[in-house]
Amino acid sequence: MELKNKTAVITGAGKGIGRAIAQALAKEGVHLGLIARTASDLEALQQSLSQEYGVKVTSAIADISDRTQAEAAVAAIEMELGAVDILINNAGIASFGTLLDMDPEEWERILHVNVMGTYYVTRAVLPSMIKESSGSIINIASTAGERGFATGSAYCASKFALLGMTESLMQEVRKSNIRVTALTPSTVNTELATNAGLKIGDEDRMMQAEDVAELALATLKLSDRVFVKAAGIWTTNPQ
Ligand SMILES: NC(=O)c1ccc[n+]([C@@H]2O[C@H](COP(=O)([O-])OP(=O)(O)OC[C@H]3O[C@@H](n4cnc5c(N)ncnc54)[C@H](OP(=O)(O)O)[C@@H]3O)[C@@H](O)[C@H]2O)c1
Repeated sequence: MELKNKTAVITGAGKGIGRAIAQALAKEGVHLGLIARTASDLEALQQSLSQEYGVKVTSAIADISDRTQAEAAVAAIEMELGAVDILINNAGIASFGTLLDMDPEEWERILHVNVMGTYYVTRAVLPSMIKESSGSIINIASTAGERGFATGSAYCASKFALLGMTESLMQEVRKSNIRVTALTPSTVNTELATNAGLKIGDEDRMMQAEDVAELALATLKLSDRVFVKAAGIWTTNPQ
């Protein structure tokens, strides 16, 4: 599918995987609406992408786990850029600990951002895609959504939920020509991985955010007759 002059909303666009996807899409000529909580990250990215690639870039500061903020962010982006063709639900947080050791507020926070936040943003974007009978939604899940592990109860619960939401929505909207995809990366070299203590061994040999962006781009570029339902991306260098 030709991506030039399409419009995409990317959540969590200020850092890591979201930022790399924003760069990859801007390079293809896609106009962008960027969402995150840290204004300085988005301002810097907005300026560099519009200067380098000549695309329209707007940003909205929002905590997606707050439904009012998520809806206001999408409305502001649509006001600026028009109907959204592509939604990248990427914003997410992670922390790990046994079910009993983890602070219940932290456990809840992970579910609120990773699941409810994705739901709120999708719910805000979807009506215009349905109206246009066209669209692509990519949810950044994780291998943690495919198997549980000790200390992962909150993060795994959130990513299992995200995969369930993705597949159900896919079945609801595929006849409206809307493609819904989940990507399930294993560990990626980002701040999230550093802060969660997930980085082991040589950073340069780890999967990079740009690798996930390349997979996202490849799925979007497929003929609009088809879509990737779910795709994993793993490092060739397990340590
Ligand atoms: N890194 C990995 O190993 C890995 C592996 C598999 C899947 N993933 C998934 O990939 C996605 C991106 O992760 P990453 O590693 O790129 O993380 P990251 O480097 O920490 O970036 C996360 C982005 O999300 C934004 N964000 C976080 N909470 C938010 C909220 N409540 N509302 C709006 N924006 C929010 C952050 O900006 P602000 O803090 O400014 O809001 C930041 O821009 C996540 O869903 C993660 O679960 C990561």
